[in-house]
Amino acid sequence: MNINKNSIRDQVYKMLKEKILKQELKVGEKISSRKIARDNGISVMPVRDGLLKLTNDGLVVNKPRVGFYVRNFTKNEVNNIMEVREMYEVYCLKNHFANIDRDEIKKLQNEMEAVEDDLQRIVFDKIDISLHYTFIQASENNFLIAKYEQIKDLVILFQHLHLARMEKSHQEHEMIAENILAGNKEKVVELVISHLRDVNEGIKRSLGQK
Ligand code: NI
Repeated sequence: MNINKNSIRDQVYKMLKEKILKQELKVGEKISSRKIARDNGISVMPVRDGLLKLTNDGLVVNKPRVGFYVRNFTKNEVNNIMEVREMYEVYCLKNHFANIDRDEIKKLQNEMEAVEDDLQRIVFDKIDISLHYTFIQASENNFLIAKYEQIKDLVILFQHLHLARMEKSHQEHEMIAENILAGNKEKVVELVISHLRDVNEGIKRSLGQK
């Protein structure tokens, strides 16, 4: 049998990353590498390797002689990350508005209308990420896209910290899509800035930082 150590490590990495991004493992929660190893019938080594990789990604904190924890965020860190996010999204909207993929926006708009009466978390997440990503892709700038990708994990994690805002965010997304299709660039910029700032407040509330 060909069991590749790297592939176990990668699988553990992916599994834990998903649990953190979906907040099944909560911010600040201790992660027991022994328990994960035991639950999955593997040795502790690949679990530790996976956790070290997640530490590198900035999603996990390794406290020497204490163990691994899901990273928690201070109010300042949330502000800083959301500032960078806003910087990229607003820049792209201002400079590449004409290049936003209208077909994709129409598709997302249809999806949003279809789920209006029964908004599921998983569908909301997908639409949220896709909608904001259309702004970035409009730049057709691979360096810029790669930079945004670097904070995308944190964007996804934060998405799961403002659950209470889902309905409101959904309405805002619909307004944003509508105004993109109507060609109201200034309005879209205004809507996205206020959307992101409200999201920021929601995240901090969830983290108990406000
Ligand atoms: Ni959003």
